[in-house]
Order: sequence, then C-alpha cells, then structure tokens
Amino acid sequence: AADISDQLSTVLVTEEEIQRKLAELAARVDADYAGKDLLLVGVLKGAVMVMADFARSLQSDITMDWMAVSSYGAGTKSSGVVQIRKDLDTDLHGKHVLIVEDIIDSGLTLSWLLENFASRGAESIEVLALLRKPEAAKVKIDCKYVGFDIPNEFVVGYGLDYAERYRNLRDVAVLAPHVYA
Ligand code: PRP
Ligand code: MN
Ligand code: MG
Repeated sequence: AADISDQLSTVLVTEEEIQRKLAELAARVDADYAGKDLLLVGVLKGAVMVMADFARSLQSDITMDWMAVSSYGAGTKSSGVVQIRKDLDTDLHGKHVLIVEDIIDSGLTLSWLLENFASRGAESIEVLALLRKPEAAKVKIDCKYVGFDIPNEFVVGYGLDYAERYRNLRDVAVLAPHVYA
C-alpha cells in the first residue's frame, strides 16, 4: 500500500489528544449514568475507533450495539439521503441509549437517526461525538458529549474515511485537496 503522509495536509487532533478527551468524556458518562443500564450504539463504520476506545475508558458495565447507516458514499459531501445498511439487534424499549459517533458534519445523519430512534421507546437518548463542525451544520443536533469542535475541512483518520480509505490513521488529519480534486 502507498505511503499516506503526502496525502494529508495537517494533523488536527493527535492520538494523545483523542485518548485524553475520551477518558474525560468517559468519566462524565460513568457519573451521569450511575445506577442505570446504558446501551452504547455505535454508528458504523466511522464510529468504530471511537467506540472501541471510549467504551474501554468507561468503568461501568454497559452493553453495545451497532447500526450501519451511510449518507456520504464515495464523495466528500453528504447526500442527505440516509440508508440503513444494518439495523440494531436490540429492542430500545426502556433503555438508556447513548449514540456514539465519530463526527457531526451537516448533522443530517444524526438528525435522521434521532428521529428514527425516538419512536422505539427508549427511556433516554443522548449523543456522543468525537468531532463536530459548527460551520457545516445544516440542522442543529443536541449533542451532550462533544470531543472537539473543528473547522469546516474534510478530515480523515481515526475511523473517518474518504472513499473507505484512511480509517486506520491514529490521528485526525485534513485530507490534502489534491487527493479528491
Ligand atoms: C460520516 C460520519 C458520520 C456522518 C456525519 O459517515 O461517520 O456518520 O458522515 O455527517 P453528517 O453530519 O453530514 O450527516 P458516512 O455516511 O461517511 O459513513 P461511514 O461512517 O461508513 O464512513
Ligand atoms: Mn458514519
Ligand atoms: Mg464515511
């Protein structure tokens, strides 16, 4: 495989910063959900790395499920059309749900998911997102646990892809424009 360093411009969030932030968020979540049954719902595929590290930073005994939705396809812009590729295996009725996401960009994916989950009878639904792009918001998402607000640039790494590549980078970096130009 090709060396990826010349396909990236700047590192926005380092591996160390991510891990420190996830530990902070995990401490908050442990406290906020003390004595409650918490179900983490990871949004495939981007949230895989966040889920793996965040869940292991928790002290609490939780359950985990996954939902696969996609709106970006192979481009750098959200299509706005969200498709379910894999639904949950868990009945949300009476559950405290925390949706785990890598990024809130336009907000369209989470807006659609929150509406979809609202009808499933959960006791509570909150959102955790490692990254958020305030300047790209098309709909407002009420996100209780945010890692980092970042500028409106196309970022990859730590689960985030461009055409399915770069998900395995340890840092979050800006994709060099020549890659998708
Ligand atoms: C990306 C990202 C979020 C969503 C955010 O997923 O992982 O789920 O887009 O964008 P939005 O706020 O504009 O909706 P994508 O659809 O690329 O699927 P993936 O997770 O499989 O990469
Ligand atoms: Mn995603
Ligand atoms: Mg993607």
